[in-house]
Amino acid sequence: MDVERLTLPEDLAGPGAGEFLEFSELTDAIQREVWGHDDRCSPPQYRLRVWRDSDYESTALYFVRDRGRMVGRAICQVPLTEDLDRARVRAEVLDEYTGRGVGRLLLGAAIDEARRRGRTVASTFTEHPAPRRAGPGKAEQAVAGLVPASTGAQCTDDVVVPSTGTGALPAGAREVRFAQAAGFALSQVVRSSELDLAAHREAWPALEAQAAARALGEYELLTWQGIPAEHRAGMAELFARMSEDAPQGEDRCEAAVWDAARVEALEEMLSDAGTVPLYAVARHRGSGEFAAYTALWIRPGKEAVADQDDTLVRVGHRGRSLGLWIKLANLAQYLAAYPSARKVITINAEENAPMLAINAALGFRAAGYEGEWYRRLA
Ligand SMILES: CC(C)(COP(=O)(O)OP(=O)(O)OC[C@H]1O[C@@H](n2cnc3c(N)ncnc32)[C@H](O)[C@@H]1OP(=O)(O)O)[C@@H](O)C(=O)NCCC(=O)NCCS
Repeated sequence: MDVERLTLPEDLAGPGAGEFLEFSELTDAIQREVWGHDDRCSPPQYRLRVWRDSDYESTALYFVRDRGRMVGRAICQVPLTEDLDRARVRAEVLDEYTGRGVGRLLLGAAIDEARRRGRTVASTFTEHPAPRRAGPGKAEQAVAGLVPASTGAQCTDDVVVPSTGTGALPAGAREVRFAQAAGFALSQVVRSSELDLAAHREAWPALEAQAAARALGEYELLTWQGIPAEHRAGMAELFARMSEDAPQGEDRCEAAVWDAARVEALEEMLSDAGTVPLYAVARHRGSGEFAAYTALWIRPGKEAVADQDDTLVRVGHRGRSLGLWIKLANLAQYLAAYPSARKVITINAEENAPMLAINAALGFRAAGYEGEWYRRLA
């Protein structure tokens, strides 16, 4: 089997579109195999746009065919404005083709590309859904609850624990064995949570009243579908803080450099991808500065499931329920704009107790865990 590089087509109808659509469908098929449903799939229109090179990121995509059928894929993404030593890599293989060396071949292609681009650190991630029979709300016990709190990197017979000591992954999982065999170390465990909107929204008015009572005198609430041009520079400051304030594991990225032009490029990319970013922002009345923001991304053809993007409360404004307040406002905005809204998916570092507490109050439940891994390419 040979690894081939995917060429992105100009659009979804012209030359090369068939191979791209096959690649996109393979990506969805693997997500379905991992999570057991379609909610983590992405529309091809979205993928075509986010995988196109920009001033900020360059992406290389690879695939392998077996007797004509595309059975595995790999990706290598390199940032272009910060983290110039790093590459994000990943290999994925259909279940029925695992154990034949396809994953190794594909990951090798992605790592070769990272080296060609002069990168010396590769990172990747693995996904570990809670056992389906565990049912909603049982994921914490199913994975993280296996180990008591501890410090120092560990690998027992049952679990692998990052050096941060928080969270754990099942040592026997195929993905964990694969990442370790490929030389990656576990940097951090991330909780993947889902919010069933119908099941929890009745509890929100009471939460909203409490949060608003604390915030309303000092802060005003703004909601947007996309960032208004006059607020791009102000939001760039918050995006930059986000890259530093969210907890990282043993493997640390550099602070991201954001300005109004980069915010505009992000908005343009999302618009071309048919994706609507919904924002809720708290503005401090006294200083006029943005104190907190949260974003949901609504993808085309998949409006019933929103992806939670960033949430940040600036240092100096924390401890006033602003996180809960803006998240409630954005959920209300989502429900009002999209009557089909059904679910929100989010990921949070397992050590991010304040964010996890807000999500738990809203009704988010763990659906599984993800491992963040890294490897030096010297
Ligand atoms: C993990 C995954 C890619 C494995 O694909 P695969 O085609 O079965 O992998 P391979 O056949 O190439 O590797 C199989 C074996 O080689 C080992 N191996 C892989 N890379 C290796 C390397 N560089 N050196 C030595 N051994 C290696 C693996 O640990 C595995 O050993 P095991 O069977 O004893 O567990 C596949 O299950 C998958 O797509 N999972 C979802 C996506 C994911 O988690 N990817 C991993 C992050 S990049």
